[in-house]
Parts: sequence; C-alpha cells; structure tokens
Amino acid sequence: MSVLRGKHVVLGITGSIAAYKAAVLTRLLVKAGAEVQIVITPAGKEFITPITLSALSSRPVISEFFSGRDGTWNSHVDLGLWADVMLIAPATAATIGKLAHGVADNMLITTYLSMKAPVFIAPAMDLDMCAHPSTTDNLDLLALRGNFIIEPKSGELASHLVGKGRMEEPEAIIAALEDYFSTGLDYQGRRVLLTAGPTHEPIDPVRFIGNHSTGRMGIALANEFARRGAEVTLILGPSSLRPREEVRVIPVTTAEEMLSQAEEVVGEVDLAIFAAAVADYRPRYAHSEKLKREGQEELEISLVRNPDIAATLGSWKRPDQYFVGFALESGVGVEEAKRKMRQKNFDAIVLNSLQDPGAGFACETNKVTLFDREGGIEAYELKSKEAVARDIVDFIARRLGL
Ligand code: CTP
Repeated sequence: MSVLRGKHVVLGITGSIAAYKAAVLTRLLVKAGAEVQIVITPAGKEFITPITLSALSSRPVISEFFSGRDGTWNSHVDLGLWADVMLIAPATAATIGKLAHGVADNMLITTYLSMKAPVFIAPAMDLDMCAHPSTTDNLDLLALRGNFIIEPKSGELASHLVGKGRMEEPEAIIAALEDYFSTGLDYQGRRVLLTAGPTHEPIDPVRFIGNHSTGRMGIALANEFARRGAEVTLILGPSSLRPREEVRVIPVTTAEEMLSQAEEVVGEVDLAIFAAAVADYRPRYAHSEKLKREGQEELEISLVRNPDIAATLGSWKRPDQYFVGFALESGVGVEEAKRKMRQKNFDAIVLNSLQDPGAGFACETNKVTLFDREGGIEAYELKSKEAVARDIVDFIARRLGL
C-alpha cells in the first residue's frame, strides 16, 4: 500500500507544454489512494483542459478566485489547511519567480502563500530559461525556505533543443513524494540547538572581522530537524538567509553573544550541532568612533582570543545529550577532525575539506565525511547542502536509535 493513501494533495499546474504530464501525475496519485485537488493557472488551461483534469481527479478544478456562475469564493486559506502536501508540476519560470517573490496574481500563488504543508516544485522550461541566473536564484531562494525542488532533467525540449529543463517524469515525482512521507517524524519530542553562520567582531561602528560563511549549511540542518518533528533553536550569526518559520531563530552578531545565548538554551536540549564559523579572534577594542585614515600609514589591530563556544558547552555535556561539531580543514583533515571531536567532547563530527571543489563556504554544495566516537565513518558524495543536511540528520538518527 502506498504511503500516499488518504493524503490530501494540492496539485498546481502552470502553463508549460509539460502540463500534459500532469494528467498522468493525477492518475498515479489517485491510483496511490491520494485525494487530489487541482489548482491551475490561466496559462495552464491553454495546455490542458480542466475537463480532463476534473474527470481524472473526481473534483472540480480550481482556477479563479470566484466561480463565474454562482459567485462562490474559492478559499486558498482552506486549501492551505486541507493539504498534506502541495505539488507544483510543471512549474514555469514565471510561476517560480512569483512563488519566490510573493506575486499573488492568481489562485495558485495565493494557495502557495497560504500553504501550511510542504511544497514540492517540479520546474519545466527551456534550457536557457533554466540556466538563467533569475531562475536559478529564485529556485535557490525557494529551496532555502524549505520547499523541495525536483530537479529538471536533461533531454529533448519542446523547442527541439537538447538540454536541462525537462520536467522530471511523473513516476519519479511520485517516488519523491513517497520518499518524503516515508521519512517519519523521528525527531518528534527532541529539542535541538544549532549554531550557524559567521560572527562579526567589530573594529569600529562600520568595520568588522568576519568570514565567508553564509549560514546555509546550518539553516539546511535546522529545516531538516524541524521537518522531522524536532523543536529547533537556531542561534544565527549575521546572515541574509532565514529558515522555515517553525524554527526559533535567535540572531546574534559576535562570538560572545553567540556563547551567551547558547548557554541559556543548552541545558534544555537533547542535541546540539555547532555549525557556526565563529571568528576565533576579536579586536581588543571596538572603537566607538569610526577610525580615520588621515595621518595613519599603518594600522595595527590587536586581537584577543574569542571563547570556543563548542568546547565550552561540550565541557558541560550531560550523558543524555548528543553533540555534533564541524571541522573545516584546508588539508585532508581527518586527524584534525578527530582531534577536535575529542577535545571539544563531541559525539560526532562533520569534516568538510576545502581541498574538495564545491565544498565548504559560500557555495550551494558540500562534500562531507562523518565520524563518531565509536569509530564509525561515513563519506558522502558532493551534494546540495539540503541533501547533506539530510545525510547528517539520518546519521545522528541512527546513532540515537530513532
Ligand atoms: N567553534 C566554536 N567556537 C569557536 C571556534 C569553533 O564553537 N570559537 C566550533 C565550530 O562551530 C565547529 C568546531 O568548533 O563545530 C570546529 O571549528 P573549526 O573552525 O574547524 O576549528 P577551530 O577549533 O577554530 O580550530 P582551527 O581554526 O585552529 O582549525
């Protein structure tokens, strides 16, 4: 029996030639026992008729805010509450842009903005549109906010050009939904503390010492724990990124602030993950006035050591708590990572080596190796940070017997 049985699926269809595959998708969802409510954009109706779709889903297809015949109002709020999942397939570049920026000019986008359930997005478009930075940035933003992007495939496109942009096949989309529903709420009832992002250590009111961390890896972890039922507190250094709304965010600037906030929370959690790229040193003095250039050929800034947040909290760890750290190494780093794990009293450590292209700071991908105190080692391929987060959360779940 499929895990989709009895699930309420809002299927959003937009104006792409791949809309014909939405008929197959509807059929497969219904066959799996799901209840399907279709919401189609005006452009979507140019590609596939609502009559076909309502016959397949056994429900009227929603497209307009009001029904022309009797003035009935279609409530996107009700749909947002009814759904167990929303799937937008195919999703055009235009719809992806509207989703990312909240341009609520049709029923599909308002439904998305009211959605309480997870959202899967299966893009379909021409190869140049697919590769355009507008599209990749919008998809990135949507992924960061916890939406699931079902990557388009390479192949022959409607334009007869060959490249990336074909919507994933309906069977594979169904498999992605099944996969989602078969990972249960294994972290329900667990409390998780995460540190993430860089820290900024002020030199004067306008300058600071910092690093290239974006916070993305820690945010992806926070999203994954929250999705699996954990109560998550994220202590986040300066970052333009934000996690899903269930995550409690405590924004901080400096290492000392990060430590004092973490100290408040750590006693109440079952699990702590230290993903922050903390500045190891801070200027001895933060000048209250902007430093002037005039007459200064050289400037020396005296630095003092910052507290080691992970080591401080690690030294207080109770036997019922599980702590995980990160090690960012410019060399291979295995021995260094193991040393940090012991020294900071972590139960496990995530090693990312800057030697691996596509790993570490300020990129969307990462390549990690996980070690635990019992000698367990797991090495993973280069993946998106969201997929890496899933591997790390799975690894910890296995250790905790969840
Ligand atoms: N960490 C921390 N506070 C610090 C420095 C590091 O909490 N002041 C944490 C990081 O979040 C990470 C782990 O310690 O989980 C290792 O961080 P890393 O920067 O790799 O190591 P350092 O201990 O700073 O050592 P070095 O920079 O010399 O490699």
